Amino acid sequence: MHRPTYENQMNNHSRIYVVGGGKGGTGKSFITASLGTILAQQGKRVLLVDLDLGAANLHTFLALGKPQVGLKQYLNKEVRDLNDVVMQTKQTNLSVISSSGCSLEIANLYYAQKVKLIKAIKKLSYDYLFIDLGSGTHYNTLDFYLISNEGIIITTPEPISVENMFRFMKSIYLRKIKQALRDNGLNIICQEYLKTVKDSQIRSFSDIINFLRQYDAKNDTNIESCIKDHKIGLILNQFRWQVDMNFGHELTKICNKHLYFDYHFLGCVSSDNKISDATMKDRIFVNEYGYAKTATELYGVARKILDESYQAELSLPLVS
Ligand SMILES: Nc1ncnc2c1ncn2[C@@H]1O[C@H](COP(=O)(O)OP(=O)(O)O)[C@@H](O)[C@H]1O
Ligand SMILES: [Mg+2]
Repeated sequence: MHRPTYENQMNNHSRIYVVGGGKGGTGKSFITASLGTILAQQGKRVLLVDLDLGAANLHTFLALGKPQVGLKQYLNKEVRDLNDVVMQTKQTNLSVISSSGCSLEIANLYYAQKVKLIKAIKKLSYDYLFIDLGSGTHYNTLDFYLISNEGIIITTPEPISVENMFRFMKSIYLRKIKQALRDNGLNIICQEYLKTVKDSQIRSFSDIINFLRQYDAKNDTNIESCIKDHKIGLILNQFRWQVDMNFGHELTKICNKHLYFDYHFLGCVSSDNKISDATMKDRIFVNEYGYAKTATELYGVARKILDESYQAELSLPLVS
């Protein structure tokens, strides 16, 4: 089985999870806020970053009202250090960088701003950092997803949501290939090499992998494993009893078969009207309704994430 290298933990102090998925309204922000709150309750130092610059609402699930400070000040160069726009939440150990108030102009970040922001995020120092993304497959969203080689993808069981999830995964995969080729200084060489391969030979992801395998063998590079070094946890949100309990596991199997990252299923999170009750009451759902079924499921997901980090730490080489 493919073994991730956990480059994140070695380069900085935070374990970074990026939360994405193709469709809007699947629960990315709600789940980011909930997982962050649970890990903070367990004594972990957690930072949530809202990178849905066009439609930020992470602060609402954290019952924060209208944040006074956020990414807007950093992107407008009112402050130099990203740490200066971190806000403490009502939950001990839980902080947030909000994107509330970012204009559409800011939402369409240009390249230099994006690179600067990504570098600054990677330098932040927490136990866990969760990044809440917007919907769609805009290349800024894809580049934000690739900030880390560990991510979470959220879908609902609805066909349209599943379809969008696959579209999102394929886009991430192609972007990662492009990024890996560029980072290894191989894009021009590969383009040359591709010219020698008949177009008809590259039709699917498995053709791309075969091509890279051949390229690796010929040129003694490690490009294939560099691309596959990506772990994604799936969450099936707004789950209803009518849906087959195995659906999440089946989806994960399909992903592992056709998309060459390392997918695992983090669990189902049931649909629950109390989530909107909590936001209406200006409360954090898992704090207000900790014993609800949906909260218990979220605790289960958080436990898996904690276990994963623990396992990953065990597998890191000891440094004297
Ligand atoms: N498990 C769930 N049960 C019921 N409502 C949910 C659930 N998860 C999310 N929601 C609701 O769905 C809406 C969209 O959630 P949100 O987290 O903003 O989605 P996204 O960030 O993916 O666009 C919100 O009104 C939220 O309260
Ligand atoms: Mg959202």
